[in-house]
Amino acid sequence: MAPLCSLLFNTAVIYLCLILKGVICKDTSAINKQIEQVYEYQDIANKIINFTTIGKGKGQVYTRLADFVDTFGSRIAGSKNLENAIDYMLNTMKKAGLENVHGENVTVPHWVRGNESATMLEPRHYKIAMMGLGSSIGTPEQGLTAEVLVVHSFDELTKKADQAKGKIVVFNQGYEGYPTSVAYRDYSAKETAKVGGVASLIRSVASFSIHSPHTGWQDYDDNIKKIPTACITVEDAEMLDRMANRGTKIVIRLKMDAKNLPPVTSRNTVAEIRGSKYPDEVVLISGHLDSWDVGQGAMDDGGGAFISWQALSIMQQLGLRPKRTVRAVLWTAEEVGLVGSQQYYQRHKVNISNYDFVMESDMGTFKPYGIQFKGSQDATAVMKEVVSLLSSINATTLSDDPEGGDVSFWIQNGVPGGSLLNENQRYFWFHHSDGDTMSVQSSYEMDLCVAVWTVVTYVIADLDEMLPR
Ligand SMILES: *[C@@H]1O[C@H](CO)[C@@H](O)[C@H](O)[C@H]1NC(C)=O
Ligand SMILES: [Zn+2]
Repeated sequence: MAPLCSLLFNTAVIYLCLILKGVICKDTSAINKQIEQVYEYQDIANKIINFTTIGKGKGQVYTRLADFVDTFGSRIAGSKNLENAIDYMLNTMKKAGLENVHGENVTVPHWVRGNESATMLEPRHYKIAMMGLGSSIGTPEQGLTAEVLVVHSFDELTKKADQAKGKIVVFNQGYEGYPTSVAYRDYSAKETAKVGGVASLIRSVASFSIHSPHTGWQDYDDNIKKIPTACITVEDAEMLDRMANRGTKIVIRLKMDAKNLPPVTSRNTVAEIRGSKYPDEVVLISGHLDSWDVGQGAMDDGGGAFISWQALSIMQQLGLRPKRTVRAVLWTAEEVGLVGSQQYYQRHKVNISNYDFVMESDMGTFKPYGIQFKGSQDATAVMKEVVSLLSSINATTLSDDPEGGDVSFWIQNGVPGGSLLNENQRYFWFHHSDGDTMSVQSSYEMDLCVAVWTVVTYVIADLDEMLPR
């Protein structure tokens, strides 16, 4: 439609709506009012963006994350290191004057890797780069030596079931994106055990490799025998596949000391800026503080946790107190199955009607494009305007399908939710590997992420009304 036509048409529709209000048309006046209110925040948004990217806040988040990561290193659930890191966060946020800073107990699994190795004995002696998968049992002390069967899929394993008995099954599944390919990390052990295999080795679930194993949690089935399981590099998976193709006999000795110890008490780390007018209503922003026991957890998910802390810090430094409470939650034990966030949901869901909006960043803090959002059509219309406040840093995209993760419990139950849309094509290069270090992070890009996170959070928390459901 030509602009004038469209204007006339819209005007006509609005009048019709006013006339028929409550009869046929939905009352759109409340939503239009909220959208108009969002426009009033452009000056505050600019102030946040400038403070964070060129003002006093510039570089803060990177410096804070680097201090943290260099001090504590990796932080797996169950470890003393994670608890020390949580203590540090609680002390630092308290000292900085954030409000209601506290830990909330969570019972978490305690898996310990121990020493581990995979040695190819035939056709030649070769040390295979490997990492046990989280929750895997260990091998007998002397190791487990067996011939190898290479497959590319669960279907192929089913077809070759009669060849799998007593073998170490190597999965050289291709990379078809994380959500699809991660099934091999999750279930290779149980599928291998079903057909009588003695251990499974998966090709790392990674989009790129310089001979790096990428670990992660895996799931046994209580009714199926538990066998040791580990990941190997893309390069070695391909080599073993080529050898098997030639009909070469491959023998591997797998040694893993891995143990599942009794659960321990960890904590979700909580800090707030209390709302000035509706302190019981909450905008929750988050990332997870735990990491794998390899690498440094700078990207997964130091970045997400620290932009959530930094959003509070920026509001505090600018003297911005929204009408509703902004709560940062730094989850514990995400990597071992969303354990911290699930227990948090169980404890707090009784107040679900007070949760205005929930977000997590756990897919990188690279150059931000905007927000991935899930909510009603009305909430989406409001969010579109909120991200439009970010035009000066080109982060105005509102896409659907937020990652969910730790905040999925809330989103599934009707709370509007979001995640950080960012240029994360390299995320699975580093994910769950020794390559997850501060060198992945860019100070400038992290500042942009903080600006997005803070503007979106502040504006929603300060609107007269909660987002429509
Ligand atoms: C949290 O766990 C610690 C350590 O196990 C315990 O001392 C404390 O009493 C617990 N706090 C609450 C509120 O349950
Ligand atoms: Zn993560």
